[in-house]
Amino acid sequence: MAIDTVGVVGAGAMGSGIIEVVARNGLKVVAREISPEAVEAGKTRVEGSLEKAVSRGKLDEADRAATLANIVWTTDFDELAPSDLVIEAVVENLDLKAEIFKALDSVLDADAIMATNTSSIPIIDIAMATSRPEMVCGIHFFNPATVMKLVEVISTQRTSPEVISVVTDFATNVLGKRVVPAPDRAGFVVNALLIPYICQAIAMFEAGHASAEDIDAAMQLGCGHPMGPLTLADMIGLDVCLFTEESLHAEYQERFLAPPPLLRRMVSAGKLGRKSGEGFYTY
Ligand code: CAA
Repeated sequence: MAIDTVGVVGAGAMGSGIIEVVARNGLKVVAREISPEAVEAGKTRVEGSLEKAVSRGKLDEADRAATLANIVWTTDFDELAPSDLVIEAVVENLDLKAEIFKALDSVLDADAIMATNTSSIPIIDIAMATSRPEMVCGIHFFNPATVMKLVEVISTQRTSPEVISVVTDFATNVLGKRVVPAPDRAGFVVNALLIPYICQAIAMFEAGHASAEDIDAAMQLGCGHPMGPLTLADMIGLDVCLFTEESLHAEYQERFLAPPPLLRRMVSAGKLGRKSGEGFYTY
């Protein structure tokens, strides 16, 4: 199972980061989005991040050009057919993901690996939408995917050990990430720790315990975190934080995992963080 061509379905915040990471490491990427407008938005994200990498001295002009040349953008699902590995990174909706995996099942070769970047949907539920759940696993990147050095690789009760070994080798030796194997449980390892922490910070803010700026400064300066929890929540997206905390609550039934009311109200109000222009801060 050699991986030469990687398909990525979805070019939002996570998908575009994954497209960039794979293409920067010299592989061909087929990047599929739903509409020409979504393709344009994905391209703009990748180009913006490459621009930042060049301006920070992380990439030279030749490598930027080579990265862009490695990416084929398409709205046509059938163009994913030559992929050895497809990584799905669309919104957190099981019905949509199941539909995509069914379609992948019908276009990909028998030995192609299908992976999801979901952060909170049980991967076995996605895998069982295909006729080959042994070829399905989770590969969970962190935002921004170009900078964050971790990838969680998730095996379900059906995933073949060979698939896990190929994906782990790919993430480690081709993408240069540190892999942490994780079980198919809500939150895997990172989000099971991170999202309850963020929700505690939101509850603290809601209770008037401290201002948003002070909570963030406290964790940044007191614990050496690169950003405080409310700034990070805005970066992740408050809808994603809510969905993940709800998944943790549903899975473990612990009261402390119930999402804080303020988080629900902000999501209902369309205050989703950076992507909507307003969250705990304005952008
Ligand atoms: N390409 C390559 N390198 C880049 C880059 C890019 N597009 N953008 C930034 N960098 C590099 C910078 O050059 C810098 O490298 P050095 O330290 O070697 O100089 C480093 O990344 C940090 O960059 P900056 O200091 O300029 O800060 P920034 O504002 O650009 O980015 C940050 C800051 C990387 C986002 C940092 O604040 C951070 O690490 N925050 C925490 C992010 C985090 O926790 N992410 C996980 C979220 S959870 C998740 O994603 C999972 C989920 O399912 C919800």
